[in-house]
Amino acid sequence: MQDFNGALAFITGGASGIGLGIARALAAEGAVLALADLREDHLAQAEGVADAEGWGDRCLPLRLDVTDRAAYLAALDTAEARFGPLRVLVNNAGVGINGPIAEASFADWDWGIDVNLKGVINGLVLGLPRLRAHGQPAAVLNTASLAPFIPARPLRGVYAAAKAAVVLATEHLALDLADSPIGVSVLCPGPVTTNIHQAALLRSDTYGEASAAFRAVEAESLAAAAPEPTPLWRDPLEVGELCIKAMRERRLYVFPHPEFLPITHKRHAAIEAALEEAAQERAASGN
Ligand SMILES: NC(=O)c1ccc[n+]([C@@H]2O[C@H](COP(=O)([O-])OP(=O)(O)OC[C@H]3O[C@@H](n4cnc5c(N)ncnc54)[C@H](O)[C@@H]3O)[C@@H](O)[C@H]2O)c1
Repeated sequence: MQDFNGALAFITGGASGIGLGIARALAAEGAVLALADLREDHLAQAEGVADAEGWGDRCLPLRLDVTDRAAYLAALDTAEARFGPLRVLVNNAGVGINGPIAEASFADWDWGIDVNLKGVINGLVLGLPRLRAHGQPAAVLNTASLAPFIPARPLRGVYAAAKAAVVLATEHLALDLADSPIGVSVLCPGPVTTNIHQAALLRSDTYGEASAAFRAVEAESLAAAAPEPTPLWRDPLEVGELCIKAMRERRLYVFPHPEFLPITHKRHAAIEAALEEAAQERAASGN
């Protein structure tokens, strides 16, 4: 997709952090934006940003829980009725759920998977037919994480499992749509300065009881101030600009943190070593 001018972009989690960074970068290209987000305070702040930057009249804030399929369908209808056919779908809403995976309750798993994976699935099932319907150049961008590409870290198991599935789903989607006018990208960031440390504010009772171990980690991260950024941390607008470049060039992977290349080698080296060992054992057994 080369020209974003006048094109409708629907961005989940679009009222804060990375989603808002992508929105701002698209707005600078002339796109019209539907910012779908669960947090009312973030939606109000995003409207303020849009007004201050002069794209308030091209911005439709929508309150949406991406896990609610009926509401998601209605939000897409509302956005298209206002701004025309969907051209860019950004499945970005996510929650930074942290806790020891061995202690995770069903509530922890369900919330982590529902938002971080099924929210993306809901966007794909509801949005792809609309992107296909008009035959114009279009783009899908799913926000995953660097987590699936690096060795396991404490407390990140549920989150990384959901994000790994987002990476795989996006890779396969890119394959399926390779000959279509729809470009497919997956954003895999390391640390970005956002409100992700406040994710626990969004836990809903519908998932039941969080485990004590997850509750403790969440309470700690809510009580702590936002982490002090180091040079590794990226700015959401910078990440948004990288996403636009990827959509323009039909690049599958968006990695804003090249500093992590050595640590991804470490993960791949461990997998290769295990395969090598299996090959040697198989050869030794004469099979
Ligand atoms: N910040 C980072 O360091 C980082 C790193 C890797 C990946 N990510 C991913 O980036 C994406 C955006 O997160 P962020 O860092 O900008 O955090 P953020 O908290 O600033 O923004 C996320 C937005 O998503 C919204 N949201 C959460 N649950 C929702 C739901 N069920 N329905 C609709 N909206 C919902 C929140 O209200 C929030 O406004 C997430 O998928 C996150 O996992 C972030």
